[in-house]
Amino acid sequence: MRYGFPDGFTWGTATAALQVEGATREGGRGDSQWDAFCREHPDRVWERATPEVACDHYHRWEQDVALMRDFGHTGYRLSIAWPRIVPNGTGPANQDGIAFYRRLFDALRHAGVEPNVTLYHWDLPQPLAAAGGWENPATLDAFERYARTCFEAFGDQVRLWATLNEPSWSTLNGYVTALHPPLRHDYRAAVRVAYNMMLAHARVGRLYRAMGGTGQVGIAQNMCPVYPATDSARDAEAARVADAVYNRWFIEPLLLGTFPTEAVDLYRRHGLLPDMPSRDLALFEGGSLDWVGVNYYFPHYASADATETRFGLNTSGNKEEDCHFSIKGLFKFVRNPKGRYTDWAWEIYPQGLYDLLARMHAYRPGLPIYVTENGIGAREVLDADGSVDDAYRIAFVREHLQVAHRAIAEGMDVRGYYMWSLMDNFSWVNGYKKRYGLFFIDRQTLARHPKRSAHWYRDLARANGFD
Ligand code: BG6
Repeated sequence: MRYGFPDGFTWGTATAALQVEGATREGGRGDSQWDAFCREHPDRVWERATPEVACDHYHRWEQDVALMRDFGHTGYRLSIAWPRIVPNGTGPANQDGIAFYRRLFDALRHAGVEPNVTLYHWDLPQPLAAAGGWENPATLDAFERYARTCFEAFGDQVRLWATLNEPSWSTLNGYVTALHPPLRHDYRAAVRVAYNMMLAHARVGRLYRAMGGTGQVGIAQNMCPVYPATDSARDAEAARVADAVYNRWFIEPLLLGTFPTEAVDLYRRHGLLPDMPSRDLALFEGGSLDWVGVNYYFPHYASADATETRFGLNTSGNKEEDCHFSIKGLFKFVRNPKGRYTDWAWEIYPQGLYDLLARMHAYRPGLPIYVTENGIGAREVLDADGSVDDAYRIAFVREHLQVAHRAIAEGMDVRGYYMWSLMDNFSWVNGYKKRYGLFFIDRQTLARHPKRSAHWYRDLARANGFD
């Protein structure tokens, strides 16, 4: 069967500033919460890796844009480093930072690669983090000012904007599992941050319109579909609760204008619900999304049998090491005994992507959807030919594209696919061990080597489909 995609479908890759740029102390860039975290808690990151060098994209961007062009990409999802634009979070804009991205966006457009730009992919300026981060309303004001600066500086170059990357995942790991900065385990703060992030999105979406922006504003969400672990009523209820707090909270205000009752009731019962004044809630009226981005890696299976509170990510790359997400008395996520798993214990389940696309479409039929991240992390080394025979990556992407193709055939407006990632990069607490790229990065020389998947992806982008 031939899997042909609609004309103009975007074939791209995704990265984030902190994960690829490096040059963290150059060009006037300020410190971010992740720079500080890696400095202060080196043992929490695999092999004490830091983002200081990353892929050195800050210096090699011309080469990287040429690779995208030569390999047939038509889109590139990237993020702007907030601390490169506003080094201390609140002060004047850094003209060197602005000039860097203007050059990059210009080069992308000349190469026929449409930028899709995320304003916040977790690199909160450290002074804002130190002052309470996303719990503090002042951070929302600072985010709005930073967004204004970006819209003014790049509005003529960028048509596709995303406000936030994965507010759910960053809130959970920052404030519940305590695996990412600010390393907190505080449910009250988590709910406050989850609420503030939605407000931040809504404020910036409105700002863009008020400034006369003619492009589209969206968000990149990691929606993990949550299935009940068994067919018991208890597990069905656990899945419903998990879905409300994990997924629905982060999308429904933006599409439906309301927060899910299940989550609101739960937080109220536990005294965790922040004040939600009507002037805030009015910001969500009418929805605030022109498009939605789906970052999809794996699904969850919820069990009601949560007898302890325990969190852990697999950072070893050993398949047998489980990830843990268990909140005593509420729900826990368990393995699918029949599932296929990556070395990082993430289940490979393409149907999950279909379910998410269908869900977005059901919320608002005709909503433009992009798959803003999807990919597989693996341990990899260069072979004698200077390449990597990553057949598993090709299989992974193929299977996920097949379900995206089905979604389009059924009438869902899926407009593009950004594979995670263009190149191997700083994989947060996994450091540089977990490789996702179409291009292998030699950690000694930082040279880029196309993997087999890079050639495969080039052919599919050029043919606008595959057999
Ligand atoms: C997403 C993030 O959560 O997943 C990316 O938006 C990230 O930044 C990707 O790198 C894969 O996660 P990880 O932890 O394996 O790098």
